[in-house]
Amino acid sequence: MIRPILARFAAAFALLLSCAAQGEPGTPAAVTFNKDIAPVLFRQCVECHRPGQVAPFPLLTYADAKKRAKMIQSVTSEHIMPPWKSVEGHGSFVGERRLSAAEIDLIGRWMAQGKPEGDAGDLPAPPQFTEGWKLGPPDIVVKMPEPYEIPAEGRDIYRNFVFTLAIPEGKYIKAAEFRPSNRRVVHHAELCIDVTGRARKQDDADPAPGFAGTSTPPGQLFPGSMATWTPGRDPLPLPEGVSMPWKQGADFVMQLHLHPSGKPETEQSTIGIYLTDEPPRRSMVDLLLIDMKINIPPGESAYHTRAQLTLPIDVETVGLFPHMHMIGREFKVTAYPPQGDPFPLLWINDWDFNWQVYYQYAVPMKLTAGTRVVMEAVHDNSADNIHNPNQPPKRVTWGEQTTDEMSLAFLQVMPMREEDFAKLRVNEQGGKLGVIRAVERK
Ligand code: HEC
Repeated sequence: MIRPILARFAAAFALLLSCAAQGEPGTPAAVTFNKDIAPVLFRQCVECHRPGQVAPFPLLTYADAKKRAKMIQSVTSEHIMPPWKSVEGHGSFVGERRLSAAEIDLIGRWMAQGKPEGDAGDLPAPPQFTEGWKLGPPDIVVKMPEPYEIPAEGRDIYRNFVFTLAIPEGKYIKAAEFRPSNRRVVHHAELCIDVTGRARKQDDADPAPGFAGTSTPPGQLFPGSMATWTPGRDPLPLPEGVSMPWKQGADFVMQLHLHPSGKPETEQSTIGIYLTDEPPRRSMVDLLLIDMKINIPPGESAYHTRAQLTLPIDVETVGLFPHMHMIGREFKVTAYPPQGDPFPLLWINDWDFNWQVYYQYAVPMKLTAGTRVVMEAVHDNSADNIHNPNQPPKRVTWGEQTTDEMSLAFLQVMPMREEDFAKLRVNEQGGKLGVIRAVERK
């Protein structure tokens, strides 16, 4: 609990400093909602904090913000909101969301000045949101044929739904856009392909829509950022030159992670599929970094796991999907090139199971052959960890339930030279690199 206290202290200190600065003759510009605060909320918050979205209340108006000003100040200064977990300077990602120190400071000054509303003429127009498809009209629309009912109370639900997806001959998947009907309950969604027919059998055996799942995907995940949807996340097409061939007759399976809201709800999701005529010109694979040796005694506050791989060829790293469960605390991935200094690929120092995203680099990271990629994670199984589902803490081992633990990352890479692709499966010692899924050039 030391860090939140320190953060609060730092925020209070920053406030003191800024108040002192205000005292300088002639300077102080009044901070008002209309001029200073609304633009920050419009840019960083209302995407989720507006009616019908994931957040529990809107932050669209002066009244909305005034009522919760104190809480806004505390969650922004502690970097809890907007939810974005990676530490600044450790990789630069698409869709990164964070407040600058200056914006956090503005909120503090606004509070200190008594939360003035300001001049109506200063208020910018609220942002317009595309309520339709973000990527434009899809080529194929898949919709749950009937709503799935979620009870008011109880544990989170993992539910798998199976669809037939007929992709015409000569077409490839370029993007997929997931749209929940009820953002209050959909925590995240995963899109998979199942070539085994197993998912369909399980669905047929269960009379309700879909069938019960675990946190493990019910098939092979779609490549890259298409695999998962999390709140506030815009869909991204596959990188230039990459497209996904579809195996005729395969099933399309969607997993929903649903979170009871306190009243009975339903969900009926829609998925848009975007096609291209272009077969994959470049290959892309997801390499696995994983440490399954997890056996965490109760009370252990810093349990370390680690994994590494050495890249056999030059690659471009498209993105990274880190994964732990409830008591994960810290997650770091670092590149150690054969020459030169190590550099960070990702650092999360305040893991939150509820805010997992696929981190796609703003510009793909070039990693040369021989680069060692190291994952280091820390779990906190102490009673002080507010995310610990066991109070008092219990021994925790590797497993699929969210109360078990995991420690892994998918590193998504594309060979710089296609002719190197075959070597990507083998590391320099001749061992196998864990290739999770690959889109291969024809
Ligand atoms: C990606 C969606 C998203 C964005 C962007 C976002 N929020 Fe939130 N916010 C949530 C959700 C969801 C919750 C409910 C608690 C949770 O699940 O973490 C929440 C909760 C809160 C709370 C209540 C915290 C508590 O302890 O109850 C405050 C205050 C808040 N947000 C303020 C903000 C502010 C200010 C911004 C912008 C700077 C912002 N949020 C941006 C989704 C978002």
